[in-house]
Amino acid sequence: MSRRIAVLISGRGSNLQSIIDAIAARQLDVTLRIVVSNRADAAGLERARAAGVETLHLSPRQYADRDSYDVALAEVLRTREVDLVCLAGYMRLLGAPMLQAFRDRILNIHPSLLPSFPGLEAQRQALEYGVAVSGATVHLVTNGLDDGPIVCQAAVPVRADDTVESLASRILSEEHRIYPEAIKIVLDGGWELRGRRFVRRA
Ligand code: GRF
Repeated sequence: MSRRIAVLISGRGSNLQSIIDAIAARQLDVTLRIVVSNRADAAGLERARAAGVETLHLSPRQYADRDSYDVALAEVLRTREVDLVCLAGYMRLLGAPMLQAFRDRILNIHPSLLPSFPGLEAQRQALEYGVAVSGATVHLVTNGLDDGPIVCQAAVPVRADDTVESLASRILSEEHRIYPEAIKIVLDGGWELRGRRFVRRA
């Protein structure tokens, strides 16, 4: 049976779409079991529905604090027997209940070469800092912001005439390429953590 993944979103959902497309193209042999959003108006929910995937809007307003929200979220994912959780533009930090329930089984994608430029507006940070190369990172999620062992990265050159938008758009193309790849790598196994290094066995 193919493995089950969940994608957590808060907005546009273009990375979600790249996962949906990779599954449809049989580049990724997984079942996208559910897409969860903390926001009712996330455009990605419509993308999931169009692909026939179960969606759920889990509103933080219904919960007293982050931990009780994450207990409910973990329960939703557990009942769907999800093997891997993929954050794709999910704008909430995960609390202990989720990190414990899915230890080393949560991925995030970030639009910079971590550990440079964690947090919001990573593409603007990179442009304003003046780096010559930025990129995208897929990493395992730990309790630090945009922290955790790096599964894969792609470099993107910064051009003299780049704007935040043009740089973000070139980085996004790489995000769409590497996220499905990273999901495959993690689910295929044959890797281990050495300290904070994600090492694939030969
Ligand atoms: C992406 O740039 C991703 O790296 C970051 O948030 C953005 C989400 O975009 N974490 P989308 O919703 O996948 O289009």
